[in-house]
Amino acid sequence: MAGKKDKKIIVGNWKMNPNSQVEALRTFESIKKKAGKLRNVQTVICPPAIYLSSLGKKVTGHRCVLGAQNTFWENKTGSFTGETSADMLSGVGAEYVIVGHSERRAIGEDNKVVGKKLISALKAGMNIILCVGEQERDNDGEYLRFIAKELVIALNDIPRRYCLNVIIAYEPIWAIGKDAERPATPEDVHEMSIFIRKVLSEVVGKDFAMTIPILYGGSVNPKNSQAFLESGGIQGLLVGRASLKAETFNKILEQSNETSVS
Ligand code: PGA
Repeated sequence: MAGKKDKKIIVGNWKMNPNSQVEALRTFESIKKKAGKLRNVQTVICPPAIYLSSLGKKVTGHRCVLGAQNTFWENKTGSFTGETSADMLSGVGAEYVIVGHSERRAIGEDNKVVGKKLISALKAGMNIILCVGEQERDNDGEYLRFIAKELVIALNDIPRRYCLNVIIAYEPIWAIGKDAERPATPEDVHEMSIFIRKVLSEVVGKDFAMTIPILYGGSVNPKNSQAFLESGGIQGLLVGRASLKAETFNKILEQSNETSVS
């Protein structure tokens, strides 16, 4: 695979952290310093939306940029209390946006809502990171049908040219967060990346499917990140807890810079 695949995409999802803008700026500055030196990594930091604007002023160059964790499906301004449109997010410096994270699906976002958010963010010119992932694995392959459905409903209706701005993040729910059963294994991820690529081929056609990077997320840390990149059949990582401390995340960035993807 060529083009943006050669660069690993490493995304830090800060979720609802940190508690102050001062700390957000400090952490971002030190990640940016490291990321700016790494030519084989595209670093994307997704802070809480409230910090985007101040962090956006610190972005220099393309190696370390910003993403949002969520957006709204309507792009026109209007009576949508509490919502933030993709145009607004990109206006303050977010180039990427995470759509359909399992923690948002858990509070009521269904596949249809995810699809609407995705299209409005794409129309606003953003790169979208579409999260998919099963709650649990069963022996009958039901989890594969679940993932396929998440992909099909979100991507079926998008104009094909938008595929160039789509990234898929495979995040099995059982592997996410501090209560995770365990991280997935690189073998789990490899098997799933092949499956996702097959579904993508059916939905958007083989040529476009090959341009879509697939990331893995769920309990990624400096000890396991390299193995996921080397043997997971993926092009990057979506990192939660291990992205909150610059020192830890920078280790993942450094290792990813040295790692060749399969
Ligand atoms: P985690 O979170 O790395 O803390 O498991 C990943 C995510 O939810 O994106």
